[in-house]
Amino acid sequence: MPQATPEVKQRIEELRQLLQRASYAYYVLDNPVMEDAVYDQLYRELQELETQYPELVTPESPTQRVGEQPASQFSSVRHNIPLYSLENAFNIEEFAKWQERWQRYAPSQKEFAYVCELKIDGNALALTYENGVLVRGVTRGDGVTGEEITQNVRTIRSIPLRLHVDQPPDVVEVRGEAFLALDVFEQINQEREQAGEQLFANPRNSAAGTLRQLDSRVVASRRLDFFAYTLHLGSQQLEVAPPQSQWEALELLQKLGFPVNPHRQVCASLQEVQQYYESWDLQRRSLPYMTDGVVVKLNSLTLQEQLGSTQKFPRWAIALKYPAEEAPTRVEKITINVGRTGALTPLAHLQPVQLAGTTVQRATLHNSDFIAQLDVRVGDTVIVRKAGEIIPEVVRVLPELRPYGTQPFQMPRDCPVCHQPVVRPHGEAVTRCLNTSCPAILKGALTHWASRNALDINGLGEKIVEQLVDKRVVSSVADLYDLTLEQLASLERLGKKSAQNLLVAIANSQNQPWSRVLYGLGIRHIGSVNADILAQKFPTVELLAGASLAQIEGVYGIGPEIAQSVCSWFQVPSNQTLIARLKQARVQLSAQNLTTTEPSSQSLSSKTFVITGTLPTLKRDEAKQLIQKAGGKVTNTVSSKTDYLVVGEDAGSKLEKAQSLGISQLNQAQLLKLLAPRQGNNYPVEKG
Ligand code: IVH
Repeated sequence: MPQATPEVKQRIEELRQLLQRASYAYYVLDNPVMEDAVYDQLYRELQELETQYPELVTPESPTQRVGEQPASQFSSVRHNIPLYSLENAFNIEEFAKWQERWQRYAPSQKEFAYVCELKIDGNALALTYENGVLVRGVTRGDGVTGEEITQNVRTIRSIPLRLHVDQPPDVVEVRGEAFLALDVFEQINQEREQAGEQLFANPRNSAAGTLRQLDSRVVASRRLDFFAYTLHLGSQQLEVAPPQSQWEALELLQKLGFPVNPHRQVCASLQEVQQYYESWDLQRRSLPYMTDGVVVKLNSLTLQEQLGSTQKFPRWAIALKYPAEEAPTRVEKITINVGRTGALTPLAHLQPVQLAGTTVQRATLHNSDFIAQLDVRVGDTVIVRKAGEIIPEVVRVLPELRPYGTQPFQMPRDCPVCHQPVVRPHGEAVTRCLNTSCPAILKGALTHWASRNALDINGLGEKIVEQLVDKRVVSSVADLYDLTLEQLASLERLGKKSAQNLLVAIANSQNQPWSRVLYGLGIRHIGSVNADILAQKFPTVELLAGASLAQIEGVYGIGPEIAQSVCSWFQVPSNQTLIARLKQARVQLSAQNLTTTEPSSQSLSSKTFVITGTLPTLKRDEAKQLIQKAGGKVTNTVSSKTDYLVVGEDAGSKLEKAQSLGISQLNQAQLLKLLAPRQGNNYPVEKG
């Protein structure tokens, strides 16, 4: 093994600092200071040096944020200082009572101030830094003992792996809230739905589920975020003056490199607290994360210490919560929705009710266990909640309002769509229709195939899919590639031009990479992240279909349930037929094919392009210039010498000619990718 020279060591340190600063500016300050491409390059340089000198890898290196080998379980850790929960007040009167109470404990305190902070709806974390380096991350657990999830905490980009001070104290404990932004939560749920998995009810549950993932690579892909709110320094000396108040502690946390919620405020009276509380009730709906109240803390740390804690709560802080977004309404009927994976989901149709500013008419009842547990019946008055302000759900039944003669709800024995018997596999909560030609499953499969992260077939929405299936024009995704212009043009709401565009979009989907095709197949548990991982390890469908359970399970990041799901899928004869037909349809079932249709820009000098139709953003002249700049030639007529037809909307006869000559087609996005394959690169460690 080569010995690292002082120059190498210095360069490694320099790279780490550069990357750390760039990452801090991006994730904490929301103010990027480095081009993505430059970050990529520096990151790769560091990665290469660390591969060459593995003894120099340290846990706080920016390369350590991508996750490690899955853990088999987490260990329990006792908190040095109990991680208390907060007492709740649900209105300002309750807050006033709390104020009177703490004042009785500290009667000499005439002058005081509060710090009001938003109550972030996530999961508390305790982070320990030794000599400035993050060494431990622990969940709240029961407040006395939590789970050690350091591996997962390292993947949270906004948490510094190293404190931003030259002379760090020996030990620091920082506490704060890990959470998922609403858009990330929605994205995770979309992925789960597409992978046939049960949805998270709200961002808090989804953050909790993510933090407790044994595979930290999954955590890394989920973009958790963090706000710090307390700092425990003990009696150590610092290079800066120690904080005297919560306000100063928050400022110091910020200096140390932590993200601190910016919407904090010092309030000198109950009236000011009330104003803060009320104004954030309106504003909080436009925040990108969930808040369920405000936390009011006494500002003076001396006073905090003087007041101390009860068994459960600190006496110096209280959560002033917003009323839960719940309302009573009546269940009018319960219907069953059959999803892409055949899962039967009961849905409560409700008497419309106002919740969190929107009208709620339906709520998910998840599955038969959920219904049985609540004993929800048609006619019942129930409490609905808009969990995470996104998916409404039934929380409980008000049995005293139940009308006479209602019956417990029973899941149907037959699929409500294809009328074949349904099954509920042993140990599962979900009832499923297993008939692969069930129209509901087929419609779901087609919509999923056409979705943005899969084959991205623009124009193949639910309405069109419904007609294609109901008219029996399509009975498998492979049939899409045999559709004719006449068949499409005969559908309702689809004129000839749109039909033509759809035909182009379908044809273009043949160029989508193997990983997207794999995701599009809709195998249970294969969301786009898993599809990426598998497509990389098994670059052809034959390799994946022929792989043993052990081989698939051996892939880093793929668990036994996922592996079993893939193996079983390829054993089903109708799936084997589907693959054979997709192959005939020239859909990309291997990674290599992609590189032959997407040459690097250097080889463009010998290529001839024709442009037809209107491109989404580029004018035709601009596209032409770009191609010429990259060394390609643009002509007006399609002939056997044409290498690529660039296709926009309302493409005309050139498209038909190109199709008849078997010429490759590109849409604008594919053209741009071809011209600048590394364009739009993100930070290398961020996936999806
Ligand atoms: S202070 C000893 N500040 O709310 C008190 N907590 O319902 C420590 N939370 O367990 C908590 N935002 O997980 C504090 N700005 C904030 C908070 C906050 C969210 C959570 C925290 C706590 C829970 C209590």
